[in-house]
Amino acid sequence: MILANTNHTQSPHLPFGDQRTSPWYGKSIISVKQFNRHDLRYIFEVAHEMREMVERVGTFDLLKGKILANLFYEPSTRTASSFTAAMERLGGSVIPINEVKYSSVSKGESLPDTVRSLECYSDVLVLRHPEIGASALAAKYAKKPILNGGDGAGEHPTQALLDLFTIIEEHGQPDGLTITMLGDLKHGRTVHSLSRLLSLYDVRLNYVSPDILRMPSEIIQEIEEKGIPQNEYTGLEEALSETDVLYVTRVQKERFADPEAYEKVKGAYVITPETMQSAKSDMILMHPLPRVGEISMELDDDPRAAYFRQMEYGMYVRMALLAMVLGKA
Ligand code: NCD
Repeated sequence: MILANTNHTQSPHLPFGDQRTSPWYGKSIISVKQFNRHDLRYIFEVAHEMREMVERVGTFDLLKGKILANLFYEPSTRTASSFTAAMERLGGSVIPINEVKYSSVSKGESLPDTVRSLECYSDVLVLRHPEIGASALAAKYAKKPILNGGDGAGEHPTQALLDLFTIIEEHGQPDGLTITMLGDLKHGRTVHSLSRLLSLYDVRLNYVSPDILRMPSEIIQEIEEKGIPQNEYTGLEEALSETDVLYVTRVQKERFADPEAYEKVKGAYVITPETMQSAKSDMILMHPLPRVGEISMELDDDPRAAYFRQMEYGMYVRMALLAMVLGKA
């Protein structure tokens, strides 16, 4: 049953409704560098409220009549469908452009033109694109808010927000936690955004990767300047026992110029039930998904495996972001 009555779903703490004076109204979300701890506290409060509302009533009409254009130049399961679910649970609707080859992009239309066309029909756009900086470029031309759904090996800010929300919902505030990121830290946009976001807290960061897939030095430098302790490893053994959050990523095949180099590192790490024996009993195991063998399916029933819960948290965070940039939270 779908309930769309907003009367009894009003939050006592966060009055949803017209909030066009909100600092996020009309803003694009391009990089996690836009956020401070105060912003994050606010976003997660709204996301938490969204979770409670979904659990109570399923859908409600906060964004009735609003339209989201989902413009995806790269494949996506979770980002595209969670934004769609988020919009529809808030009573809005979606123009899905999942396969740009069936759009005028295949006729050679430029990104600024495609974005300026879609904003004629919509109130907000999510953009996923293979080039670093594509969302920033789109936001320069667009009048409507652009939400960066991943720009090549650059950033994936909405994913990092949902990752951090997952950590907070499962572990409480991140201060004092040791977070270990493992896999393709060079090309993985989710870890680029998440490590930056975590550097706003008092955390320790470990990076485990093959030598050719290390965290980019400019990101390490940036985080170093915030005074965050960071350690790099090629094996997980040394870092595992002190880890509170293990964040596993896939080796990003599509970002390799040389297929042979990919073949050499693709199976570098596999987390199995044996690995988890040396992990803390309350460690959480996260992954932005898709996984392509880095986490054994035998682990899915381990209560520490948080990756499916992480997906669900993503919808609440995206509901919060949509409401904020559309001036309703
Ligand atoms: C990630 C992405 O697209 O960067 N997926 C996602 O959005 N959940 C991770 C990946 O593709 O490996």
